[in-house]
Amino acid sequence: MKNIILTGDRPTGRLHLGHYVGSLKRRVELQNSGKFDEINILIADDQALTDNADNPGKIRENIINVVLDYLSVGLDPEKTTICVQSALPALHALTFYYLNLVTTARLSRNPTVKAEIQMRGFADEGLPAGFFCYPVSQAADITAFDATVVPVGEDQLPMIEQTREIVEKFNKIYGETLVLPKAMIPENETQRRLPGVDGKAKMSKSLGNCIYLSDDAKTVKKQVNGKMFTDPQHLQISDPGHTEGNVVFTYLDAFCTDEHFAEFLPDYANLEEMKEHYRRGGLGDGTCKKFLINILEETLSPIRAERAKWENDIDAVYDIIRAGTLKAQETTNATLARVRKAMRINYFDDRAIIKEWDKMLKAAKQ
Ligand code: TRP
Repeated sequence: MKNIILTGDRPTGRLHLGHYVGSLKRRVELQNSGKFDEINILIADDQALTDNADNPGKIRENIINVVLDYLSVGLDPEKTTICVQSALPALHALTFYYLNLVTTARLSRNPTVKAEIQMRGFADEGLPAGFFCYPVSQAADITAFDATVVPVGEDQLPMIEQTREIVEKFNKIYGETLVLPKAMIPENETQRRLPGVDGKAKMSKSLGNCIYLSDDAKTVKKQVNGKMFTDPQHLQISDPGHTEGNVVFTYLDAFCTDEHFAEFLPDYANLEEMKEHYRRGGLGDGTCKKFLINILEETLSPIRAERAKWENDIDAVYDIIRAGTLKAQETTNATLARVRKAMRINYFDDRAIIKEWDKMLKAAKQ
């Protein structure tokens, strides 16, 4: 069996450092590992519409933002197929068949959807049926590409579980047709969750606590110096400080290497030594922040440069997602054809069905 990756994002905003440490960096590593026969990344604009039906303009804008973010971190269209969900009609058809294999009670139990319903106020306003059913459409995404591996954040585990149930049920009723996928989740705590600069659990546009991959150096500096949460008890440089729950150190955990010390802060050999000093007292927040800014710049400036290149050649970007989407149409149409065949609803490409009808009608006459 082939080793196939499918993953995706809802295009609801530009991507930030949380996305970078949580998923983008690993996607690039997987892409370059040579271990996969195919890597597909789906820009899930239809899924984004399930809770943004009144604002398709926002989704449209962010499709290009997200593609630029992908290209600027090193996703390579020669190795990775980038495609747009709404232009893949096979996904819609698959969703419609899979909906019959799922109960509303089962959908109601999905913990991620439950939390999102609360967050979006749908519990009071009324719940759009499309939103309620998006885990089924995600099962269509995953199975349409015959994905074996789905790299996602932990919050997406219920979607993969739901997909596996649909695959098992489909194969049981109609015969072995769909591939059973596995989730691949981040390996360590740092990848799982990069907090906002204010220390809040998640980076979110509305909280203004993000550092975007497309932010300029001045903005990054402002977010770190002006907003980044440290240790409120560390008032004087000489005071002993806490590194746990100190956002500057959480970010250093995520981004710094021993080489960064040699380059920017040779007083210490590694992060452990630096933390020691901070805990003991005598190391100021200003020094720590300056070090972090240097490291973030080292990460972000090549990404920014790459982004600028693509922004100046938007026609090339357009061609990339068009070509990726056309390729994905072939892949997903083939799966839909296989599904229809397994269900024997492929009326117009299977003469055997017409013969069966004929036989049935003749038998009825006798
Ligand atoms: N639900 C995913 C998210 O919000 C996005 C997504 C859509 C996805 N389809 C997918 C992820 C298929 C993995 C596979 O992040």
